Amino acid sequence: MSRKRTYLICPPEHFAVAYVINPWMDVTAPVDTELALKQWDGLRETLVRLGHDVHVLPAEIGLPDMVYAANGAFVVDGTVYGARFKYPQRMSEAAAHRRFYAADAGWRFVAPSETNEGEGDFAYLPGPGLVLAGYGFRTEVAAHAEAQEAFGRPAISLRLVDPRFYHLDVALAALDDDNITYFPGAFSEPSQRVLRQLFPYAVLADEDDALAFGLNLVSDGRNVVLNAEASALAAKLAAVGYQPVPVELSELKKGGGSVKCCVAELRP
Ligand code: ARG
Repeated sequence: MSRKRTYLICPPEHFAVAYVINPWMDVTAPVDTELALKQWDGLRETLVRLGHDVHVLPAEIGLPDMVYAANGAFVVDGTVYGARFKYPQRMSEAAAHRRFYAADAGWRFVAPSETNEGEGDFAYLPGPGLVLAGYGFRTEVAAHAEAQEAFGRPAISLRLVDPRFYHLDVALAALDDDNITYFPGAFSEPSQRVLRQLFPYAVLADEDDALAFGLNLVSDGRNVVLNAEASALAAKLAAVGYQPVPVELSELKKGGGSVKCCVAELRP
């Protein structure tokens, strides 16, 4: 069953691969900003067509990764846990997101003391009321405890072990209020065991699905918006009753992200 969502996205007006902070980034590979904008607009239109509320955060000059709006904060039940980026190149993005939430008195903002990259490393399952939290590359495990205190929801720490899958949201995604899809190989053996215990009915993705950025998806409970290259994962999801909605986002892959990285979910 789909549920209407509220999303925050940021246009890739100043998108570039200007530095290397993940294995996907290559400063020598040319980036077509115009194509990136066109593809991003396709994503925006898709979310609107599916009936969701979409807010747009203005892009800022000098912040080439700002298009990856998921990293700017993590929002659960009206509480906004602010981001604190690991790398100096992205640090100012947190303030831009904070200003967005400050403009609406409906949000309660919790400033972070610990390094965390927002929804890039956090996911929320409203059914069991669980926060899933990644660590190993960007977000510090201490931020998981900070998030748990901010939301009053249990945070389950999951250790990422493969640098290609440096954020939780490239290795795991919520499909609906209760279930997830993930690539086990991105996690340590004990964390895989935790995931098996909590989500016995999860849709398991393979390495090719993950490398195609298939797990970097946005689902409204039924419609699953995902990178068009991830056709094998789309078929797996369709087989268990979800409606895959492929979008073309090849330019943004050059920065190391796809659909989910570009979309922050605002949970009022
Ligand atoms: N170039 C960005 C970085 O390495 C990509 C961020 C992708 N965002 C995400 N939510 N996984 O920080």
